This record gives sequence, C-alpha cells and structure tokens, in this order.
Amino acid sequence: MAEIRNIVILTGAGISAESGIDTFRSAGGLWEQHRVEDVATPEGFARDPELVLGFYDMRREALRKVQPNAAHAALARLDRQFAGELLIVTQNVDDLHERAGARRILHMHGELKSALCISCEMRSPWDATLSDRPPCPVCRAPSLRPDVVWFGEMPYQMDRIYSALREADLFVSIGTSGAVYPAAGFVRDARDLGARTLELNLERSEGSAWFHESRQGKAGELVPEWVDEVLIS
Ligand code: APR
Repeated sequence: MAEIRNIVILTGAGISAESGIDTFRSAGGLWEQHRVEDVATPEGFARDPELVLGFYDMRREALRKVQPNAAHAALARLDRQFAGELLIVTQNVDDLHERAGARRILHMHGELKSALCISCEMRSPWDATLSDRPPCPVCRAPSLRPDVVWFGEMPYQMDRIYSALREADLFVSIGTSGAVYPAAGFVRDARDLGARTLELNLERSEGSAWFHESRQGKAGELVPEWVDEVLIS
C-alpha cells in the first residue's frame, strides 16, 4: 500500500446499525415508518412542531439504550494512532463515534444531542426533551428545535469538508447508501482531486461504481480489518 498521509472518512447509518439504530432506507427502516416530509423538513416542522419535536425526542431517548460497536471502536483507534491528517465526516446524528473515543469528527447533518434556537440562532448541548418547549439557555425564548439538518437545508461545515477532500489521499465511505447529496458526491469529488477511494458497506451502494474498491460486509468486521491494514502499512 502506498504511504497514506491524509484520510477523509464518510460514515452513514450503516456504521451504527450493529449498535441497534435503524438505518433509513432498509425494510423496516426509519423512512418506511415515517413520512420524510412530515418529520425531516422545515415545512413539516412548521406544520406540526409537536410531531417533529416528539420524533426527535424519541430518537434522542433511544440513544441512551445503545452502545458504540466494533466499527466505531476501530475508527476511534485509528484516530488515536494514525499520525497523519484524519477527518471523520459523519451523516449520523448519534454520538456513537464520540462515545467510542473518536475526536476528529464533523457532524455534517447535525446532532441529536444539540438544540438550535430559532430566535437567537445559538446552539446548546441538549440531553433532555424538546417537545415540552423548554426555554433556550441563551436567550430564554421557547424556540428550540433539533440541531439536525433537514431535507432542503444546507449541511454543516461544507467548506471544511471540501478543503479536507482536496488534501485527502484516501477517501473511505462506510455504511452509507449514497442516496443523499452532497455526501453522495464526495467520492467523485475526492477521486477527481486525486484520492484513492474505498467503500465499506453491507451491499454495493448507489454510487459504488465510482469507488476504486468496494468491499461488502458488516461494518463491525470490515472496519477493524481495514484499520489494521492502515496502521501496519
Ligand atoms: N454494516 C455496513 N453497512 C450497513 C450495515 C452494516 N451492519 N447495515 C446496513 N448497512 C448499509 C446499508 O446497506 C445501506 O447501504 O448502510 C447503508 C445505510 O443507508 P441509509 O439508510 O440510506 O443511510 P445513510 O446513507 O446514512 O442516509 C444518508 O439520508 O435520510 C437521510 O439525513 C439522513 O444522514 C441520512 C442521509
């Protein structure tokens, strides 16, 4: 393997599946049980805020019952031991990467455990419910929403992500269906910019053909194996 100095990793719901968190687009997945436009759009929130706040309260509550799995642990090990540049860009709103010990994390779709105030636009760490309309800790207005990126909204920190992709010599996508842009386009961006590209996913994703290499299997097995390869190379 050529020497790797700079890695960008994209993770999706598949990396948390073995922890017991539903993915979105599988049979029985989150989007089969809920209409996306009701619970994951600004329009849905405007129409029925109680429904939306309750939905994210349930997802936040569900986080208490799950633990990071072997894939999160392996990425945390990579973060600790890899001396080069690393950025783990996650589409996940759970906190399992952090709980496994990873530090170089960017949540491009926001975080369940953060609240965003519509009045003062400040973010606050959040562990409790939002459906009871608690006051914003900063401005006291009862205007908190989940700090997650809904369909139709701009993902967070895109400038930082693209500058990391420009520098990357390896781009790895883990547990994501490649159905949602802009994340689904990162493989082409990274490849155009000269990075080698690798997919680790249960099945071939929608964008699988864009990767130099695609390995199929469970993240809990594939990710520790791949991290071993990087750390001994
Ligand atoms: N190991 C590896 N991959 C897995 C596993 C597993 N144990 N289980 C499922 N997968 C794969 C599935 O095969 C699928 O390709 O993970 C992928 C999950 O895809 P999605 O459910 O579409 O989730 P994701 O790609 O993260 O969705 C992207 O869309 O719904 C929005 O904002 C939401 O961040 C989310 C975004």
